[in-house]
Amino acid sequence: LPATLLCLAFGYLLGSIPFGLILTRVAGLGDVRKIGSGNIGATNVLRTGNRKLAAATLLLDALKGTAAAAIASYWGGEAGIAAGFAAFLGHLFPVWLGFKGGKGVATYIGVLLGLVPVMVLVFAAIWLAVAKVTRYSSLSALTATAIIPVILYATEYEKVAVLFAAMTAISWIKHRANIQRLLSGTESRIGEKG
Ligand code: G3P
Repeated sequence: LPATLLCLAFGYLLGSIPFGLILTRVAGLGDVRKIGSGNIGATNVLRTGNRKLAAATLLLDALKGTAAAAIASYWGGEAGIAAGFAAFLGHLFPVWLGFKGGKGVATYIGVLLGLVPVMVLVFAAIWLAVAKVTRYSSLSALTATAIIPVILYATEYEKVAVLFAAMTAISWIKHRANIQRLLSGTESRIGEKG
């Protein structure tokens, strides 16, 4: 049990590092929460116009999930799942930002990379296909996260499928403003300042 608690704490702490906020601040771009959607994720960092910073945000927000899941997996599969989930929750609800964090898409991909790496290719294929057709980052993520748990379940990663189904549900709730904007046709497209 102490190992599991340690994995949860370690995962949460890693996940709670708001790379988008830190990188934009260090780059002198101000507070990313004051522009676009107000989110701290890579999609909103892209609205500053700095593509490299957006890519770095995506990478680091993903890798913190990968690191949490992969390192904790040393204590067994369940510890990896617990730490991955904790990292995801850390990103969405960071204590440092009054629990107002991101929507979890990058960290979701990172945890997937840590637990079932090949599935990242499936995620990327779905995300890119929807993005190519619609140019909506949110819709691409909503679609990919809806499909991933189903594929995991069908390929007999049942326990991991439950983890990702939970993360999908929580991420969808965090996307509720995006969903409303998609439905009303006011969601900003990739490359728009929003
Ligand atoms: O990955 C986050 C994306 O789905 C939505 O970001 O900034 O458009 O709300 P944003």
